[in-house]
Amino acid sequence: MKGKFITFEGFEGSGKSTQIRLFAQYLKKQRLPVLLLREPGSTGISERIRKILLDKKNKALSQDAEMLLYLAARSQLVQEKIIPALKKGKVILCDRFHDATVAYQGYGLGLDKKLINSIGNFVMAGIKPDLTILFDIDVEEGLKRAGRNKDRIEQRPLGYHRRVRQGYLGIAKKEPGRVKVIKVDADIETVQQRVRELAICLFRK
Ligand code: TMP
Repeated sequence: MKGKFITFEGFEGSGKSTQIRLFAQYLKKQRLPVLLLREPGSTGISERIRKILLDKKNKALSQDAEMLLYLAARSQLVQEKIIPALKKGKVILCDRFHDATVAYQGYGLGLDKKLINSIGNFVMAGIKPDLTILFDIDVEEGLKRAGRNKDRIEQRPLGYHRRVRQGYLGIAKKEPGRVKVIKVDADIETVQQRVRELAICLFRK
């Protein structure tokens, strides 16, 4: 595979979606072939799964079905977009990926992390991010920034969100080579500068 695969992870309100957009614009200006994706989503089928997952009305959705739907949306994205783009040498920026399922469904809901990783390995079909940038923010601050119109996941209690954040930090501790943590304690431009500094080494190789 010739391309690069960079994932952006983080807690609600961490500003990761703004940062990924700015970084995509920056790479495009450098004339790099960028593909910007989001999870769950970015294919027709995965966007339909996203609607089911985030719809507040879907109170009956079981925890196991939720986990499997995130993984199904990912499987579609890997096969339809990620693998073909990597073969073409594109730089893929993905707003969330497998770490989100480990953090939100594994640590957050308490589902079996071994099972999530095992289905995840099947779903990812050998694809692994070259770099993951984790935007870390205090839980209360993040939820405040995320605003009032909360989706099905964001509506969950504070304790859930605390477990998600700790989960993400645990993943970063286990894989310090791949996962780099950026503290969201500065303005957008300063945080963007940190993103560029972290990612630049991938393009020097
Ligand atoms: P977004 O708000 O970053 O677009 O993500 C959608 C929501 O889905 C967000 O609340 C995090 C959640 N999520 C999971 O619970 N598990 C996952 O595997 C992914 C990718 C997202």
